[in-house]
Amino acid sequence: NDVEIVVAETGWSYKGDVGEAGATVENAKAYNGNLVAHLRSMMGTLISDTAPWKDLKAHVGEIDKTHLRDLMTDTDRCKSMMIEFDGIFLDYSRQRATVDTMSKLFTLAEEAHLKQKINSMFNGEHINSTENRSVLHVALRASKDKTINSDGKNVVPDVWQVLDKIRDFSDKVRNGSWVGATGKALTNVIAIGIGGSFLGPMFVHTALQTDSEASKSAGGRQLRFLANVDPVDVARNISGLNLETTLVVVVSKTFTTAETMLNARTLREWISSALGQQAVSKHMVAVSTNLKLVEKFGIDPNNAFAFWDWVGGRYSVCSAVGVLPLSLQYGFSVIEKFLEGARSIDQHFHSAPFEKNIPVLLGLLSVWNVSFLGYPARAILPYTQALEKLAPHIQQVSMESNGKGVSIDGVRLPFEAGEIDFGEPGTNGQHSFYQLIHQGRIIPCDFIGIVKSQQPVYLRDEVVNNHDELMSNFFAQPDALAYGKTREQLQSENVASQLVPHKTFTGNRPSISLLLPSLDAYRIGQLLAIYEHRIAVEGFVWGINSFDQWGVELGKHPKSESNFMHRVRKGSADVLLEPTTLLPEISCCLML
Ligand code: F6P
Repeated sequence: NDVEIVVAETGWSYKGDVGEAGATVENAKAYNGNLVAHLRSMMGTLISDTAPWKDLKAHVGEIDKTHLRDLMTDTDRCKSMMIEFDGIFLDYSRQRATVDTMSKLFTLAEEAHLKQKINSMFNGEHINSTENRSVLHVALRASKDKTINSDGKNVVPDVWQVLDKIRDFSDKVRNGSWVGATGKALTNVIAIGIGGSFLGPMFVHTALQTDSEASKSAGGRQLRFLANVDPVDVARNISGLNLETTLVVVVSKTFTTAETMLNARTLREWISSALGQQAVSKHMVAVSTNLKLVEKFGIDPNNAFAFWDWVGGRYSVCSAVGVLPLSLQYGFSVIEKFLEGARSIDQHFHSAPFEKNIPVLLGLLSVWNVSFLGYPARAILPYTQALEKLAPHIQQVSMESNGKGVSIDGVRLPFEAGEIDFGEPGTNGQHSFYQLIHQGRIIPCDFIGIVKSQQPVYLRDEVVNNHDELMSNFFAQPDALAYGKTREQLQSENVASQLVPHKTFTGNRPSISLLLPSLDAYRIGQLLAIYEHRIAVEGFVWGINSFDQWGVELGKHPKSESNFMHRVRKGSADVLLEPTTLLPEISCCLML
């Protein structure tokens, strides 16, 4: 299958397996038998072939001659790199970028048809082409009067029908008019789900827990999440819970995910063995797109909350996936504010000019860092413990969306897309991996700060109270990364000469700072939508499909009785030394 194809007019060349490009004989026939024309049409879609991409590549040489220490002295530049929307400040002046870089990135966005792609998403076009679906998580938080069509049908009334059903059901559970099989009020919820049916709701729950309005509304209620198929996770989740007062919500888009279904059967057994089979209808409800399977499982279809195939799993927190468990815990009115926050960013993303558009700017800068400056990772560093589950959620949204090796048309990418996301709240992260980001590898950082803490400060008489201490770190770290510390500075501080190399920091390490006025349900919704749209922008510019996940599907079907599993089952002593067919990529397995 190996061929080399050169497109004369652009100088673009492709060498490799045409099978990778989907260039089968059948495909060629579909293109009037003209295989080369078919390939050429696909090649034309690669953003890396375009003049703006090449211009940015050449521009890297210019940027390499600069240092953030110098760039930060240009006050006009710095002012132009600070924008505000609805009380949220984005400062991207500590990016290795000039005004010229930004203008080149906007040209790249134009070349990638970014505006048209954003419009296509909001218009419900089938931009998830490999699954032939619309991508309409924005419809999940649209106001009632909005019209958003998918396949010629306005989906907003369906969305609100489910939201109203959630409002009604969660009110009944919370006010005790819906009770368990033994007549007791249901004050605990276990939400079973994994991946997108878990990480987003877990993030929002963790962020709301210490918000005063939300925690007051939660009263003494408990919300737990069972995700892992590990029996340890089951034990931890049911530990200390009275099942008579527990409601289980099974959350699964497909209702076929192995881990979720096994955990659902486990808790069904937990309930029915203690309270009888008929108790299941009072103690188990479901969220799914597959209502037939919900019914088959034994959950009353009246107690099922629908969503739709145009909602990707990792984008589903604003559907019943998140809204049901979170409303049971905090009340629908709190979660409605979360949806409103996300909606405000949707409107901003859809309408603000690119120069003032937070998700667009963040997305373009990510592309700049990954594809041009060659920094493949990103650290997400919220300076509040309430956002401790932000990074795990964004890891999935980002890496599952943009960790792709082919363009949306199926052409193998000649560049690497996606980024490696990780993170930890500050200041904890500072005592964990900041050594590496200050002196080792260059990792662009997202610093997220909150002006007004969710909680009152303690020790008010201290010169610097807890929140001030936290925020001093939030402001100081980006500067330390940008400016570093020079040999001259160290010498003027009389640092012992043998320590000077160890205490020298090159600086010139990029970051962005995002400052939110507070962290309530509305702001949490905004933060979620900023990240969702930033990730979409990256994918739109790279020209990939950010909305499928074939890699995850591959991992879901390991060769069942592989050498590895076979030997494990037989208890073979040499198992650790055997190469495994289970994991064909470079890996190692350690079994205790
Ligand atoms: O983790 C991969 C994934 O396919 C996600 O996209 C999805 O959210 C998750 O699995 C769980 O799938 P489901 O909601 O169908 O159980």
